[in-house]
Amino acid sequence: MALTVRPLHDLFVAEIGGIDLARPTTREEIAGIEAAIAEHAVLVFRDQNITDDQQLAFSRCFGDLEETKGTGISKPGEQRLHPAFADVSNLDKDNTVLARDNRRRLYGLGNMLWHSDSSFKPVPATYSLLSGRVVVEEGGETEFADMRAAYDALDDETKAEIADLVCEHSLIYSREALGFDDLSDAERATMAPVRQVLTRTHPVTGRKSIYLASHIGKIMGWPVPEGRAFIRDLTEHATQDHFVYSHKWKKYDLVMWDNRSTMHRARRYDSTLVRDMRRTTVAGTAPTVDQGAMAAE
Ligand code: OGA
Ligand code: MN
Repeated sequence: MALTVRPLHDLFVAEIGGIDLARPTTREEIAGIEAAIAEHAVLVFRDQNITDDQQLAFSRCFGDLEETKGTGISKPGEQRLHPAFADVSNLDKDNTVLARDNRRRLYGLGNMLWHSDSSFKPVPATYSLLSGRVVVEEGGETEFADMRAAYDALDDETKAEIADLVCEHSLIYSREALGFDDLSDAERATMAPVRQVLTRTHPVTGRKSIYLASHIGKIMGWPVPEGRAFIRDLTEHATQDHFVYSHKWKKYDLVMWDNRSTMHRARRYDSTLVRDMRRTTVAGTAPTVDQGAMAAE
């Protein structure tokens, strides 16, 4: 079967056909997917009824996977899925829908703010692969924003201003933005801020993008309120309608995105219904900036 690539948006996003992710993939197929994601940044695979092991095997074709333990609020023994999965569902270990005031659910609502996965880790993720095992009919879309196009559309003055800026990212900041501050000292310790460049250059395409996320709490060397106000401004710019694709989930869609050139967020849905989404995440290989840089600040 030959891979097919069908663009779904003017700027980015393509649907990939001609591949069955339940089967072992060939080197040519992986090369084709890598070329497609470098160009389109978000890839949609339809009708992929895969098991967790098949999702792991396919994801590992692109590099080592991140493990979810060590950051966030998940505790050993509480997890529903293999540790290489981020459980983006609204289900507990027994597949019961989480109660409205459930702590893990409230923490997970952070996904409704624009972000790039694992920007709060010193070495952030490259790709994320999200499989829709049980999807909701209404709402629950995942929206993506093309941060390369958003960068290209900045005026030269702003491009120059953000060229060398470094931001501090932490899960504490994105959770605080929603009023979720009930974190233990041990949890906070796993969420210590890390630094990321604000202008990112893609290693494959050489295209520049704005590296934004709701995890940003500070621009290094700037007064905090001024930094946050500027980050809000850039985020508003980058998430204007024409930079955004909204993915309406169908059962067994798998959506793969490049976190180096996009942001995404989940939209609201009726949280009494089951939404079983499972994410695998390909680890990056290098930090975007020396973590010790500007340590005096
Ligand atoms: C994710 C995520 C959004 C969604 O899986 O990283 O942010 O729509 N998901 O569930
Ligand atoms: Mn995410």
